[in-house]
Amino acid sequence: MMKVPFYDAKPYDRPFFGRQGVSGNIDYQFHEFRLSAETAASATECEAVCAFVNDSLDRACLARLAEEGVRLVALRCAGFNQIDLKTASELGLRVVRVPSYSPHAVAEHTVALLLTLNRKIHRAYNRVREHNFSLNGLVGFDLHGRTAGLIGTGKIGKLTAQIFRGFGMEVLVHDPYPDLDWASAAGAIYTSLDELLMRSDVVSLHTPLTPETHYLINEQTLALMKGGAYLVNTSRGALIDTAALIEALKQRRLGGVALDVYEVEEGVFFEDLSHDVLQDDDLARLLSFSNVLVTSHQGFLTEEALSEIARVTTENLIRFGRGDELLPGTEVFAPGSP
Ligand code: NAI
Repeated sequence: MMKVPFYDAKPYDRPFFGRQGVSGNIDYQFHEFRLSAETAASATECEAVCAFVNDSLDRACLARLAEEGVRLVALRCAGFNQIDLKTASELGLRVVRVPSYSPHAVAEHTVALLLTLNRKIHRAYNRVREHNFSLNGLVGFDLHGRTAGLIGTGKIGKLTAQIFRGFGMEVLVHDPYPDLDWASAAGAIYTSLDELLMRSDVVSLHTPLTPETHYLINEQTLALMKGGAYLVNTSRGALIDTAALIEALKQRRLGGVALDVYEVEEGVFFEDLSHDVLQDDDLARLLSFSNVLVTSHQGFLTEEALSEIARVTTENLIRFGRGDELLPGTEVFAPGSP
């Protein structure tokens, strides 16, 4: 059995990974704490570790893992912005991820957030429970005939665009690598970023977090957005400059914002802090707006996605243990490497 520490473990991970691990001879050691330089010593005598989105795989953490004998980091997620790939490569650590598990899960959550925000379901739900049956303040708009602008037309962006087309929306898209065949089949139109921002009633973000996309939504780009437009982010928190977003909300320039991700999720998202004091003032401010909806990075949380994440991660660990080739397309490299 290969022992693999599994960080930031939650109750919903265990059945999926537990089952796959047993059949693949992988002994997952479920740790509730996150992986960081301070906790990396827990990987002693392990050749591989399994990490998630809010683990902090910086230089110090990776150096410690390498000292402990780790040679593979298996990320059980698609994004890899939490790991210093250059250092990993210098230390001879290989890194794998799960590039695609259920893009449907995230696309559907994006749409769920938009519908909730637009039709004020979050407010209606609370009101009715209090026996307040008033409709004041709950006016939304028909999505049919409105314009959606999607930034990033990878797997999730495309599926989201197709759902919006199903609502009868006009769909504008922006991506440095356009897929024109898909766009013509789906009825989506590629435009510049500025045009997309100026024309869309709903802007939804579907790009990875990279140095180029960091703060893609900032004071200048927010100023281009239509008055009263909605902004939805199910990709990565740092695509948005939170301070600029709060300012735009205070000035009543946006119709509403739905976030499944946040700039500083570590230590907050995935945790039950209901008996604690929220220390993040920006997050507290965001939560105070009635037209802001926040979910705690749950876009991936469907049975299909969890099962696929466990399958791909476990299969890679089995292959690594046997010295076989890793699953094609799952290994990530530092920019400039093969
Ligand atoms: P993907 O790799 O299939 O597509 C990303 C697209 O973004 C590509 O077409 C790429 O060309 C485009 N892109 C890159 N830079 C851009 C820029 N500056 N402007 C516009 N487009 C740009 O990725 P996928 O699977 O569609 O995932 C998108 C993001 O969703 C992931 O990177 C991840 O951050 C996030 N995600 C969130 C989850 C959640 O639970 N909320 C779960 C899974 C992914």
